[in-house]
Amino acid sequence: MSKQDSQFFNIFSLVLGILIVIAILLFALARGVGKNTQQAHLLTEPKYVADVERNLTSVRVAVAGVDNAALAIAPGAGAMTTAMAVLTDGPSVYEQVCGACHAGGIAGAPKTGDAAVWAPRIAQGKATLYKHAIEGYTGKAGVMPAKGGRADLSDELIQAAVDHMLAQ
Ligand code: HEC
Repeated sequence: MSKQDSQFFNIFSLVLGILIVIAILLFALARGVGKNTQQAHLLTEPKYVADVERNLTSVRVAVAGVDNAALAIAPGAGAMTTAMAVLTDGPSVYEQVCGACHAGGIAGAPKTGDAAVWAPRIAQGKATLYKHAIEGYTGKAGVMPAKGGRADLSDELIQAAVDHMLAQ
């Protein structure tokens, strides 16, 4: 190796070494800057915040029990949808909920359409029947669960179901 060659080689190695050191320093700098800014920006990014908010709402609602609709099975989820069908009037509430016991007089429930068992109950007055249907009632015959076990239904719907039952 000539003297010139070895001089070139030394300078070349030095430059290479300096470039590597600079690259490492830049990498470290970028990481340092990114750590303090990227994370902070992500947390205020509107789309990210909206996503988190949307994902949390149903959980919050379910935990707080404010709106049980959040727990309802979405339409198209399969066979369960029919059973969870939205009940909007007295007859459908009766069919889906009350009829389970009252249609056949199951578990001591006064049978729908049986005037003899209903007469003394009707004599109590409609207000009492509504109250017993909404709040639940334990009498001599058995246990009438509050709202027939469907706490998610409104008082009005239960009253409509009682009216429907009494009309039979
Ligand atoms: C798990 C069975 C069951 C379901 C479901 C059910 N009931 Fe009853 N219900 C009973 C029983 C048992 C009684 C009789 C309680 C007694 O007098 O001992 C009763 C009694 C009643 C009475 C008479 C209360 C009284 O004061 O005499 C009304 C009104 C009534 N139910 C309405 C409803 C309505 C409306 C629904 C649907 C939203 C419903 N029930 C769902 C079991 C049921």
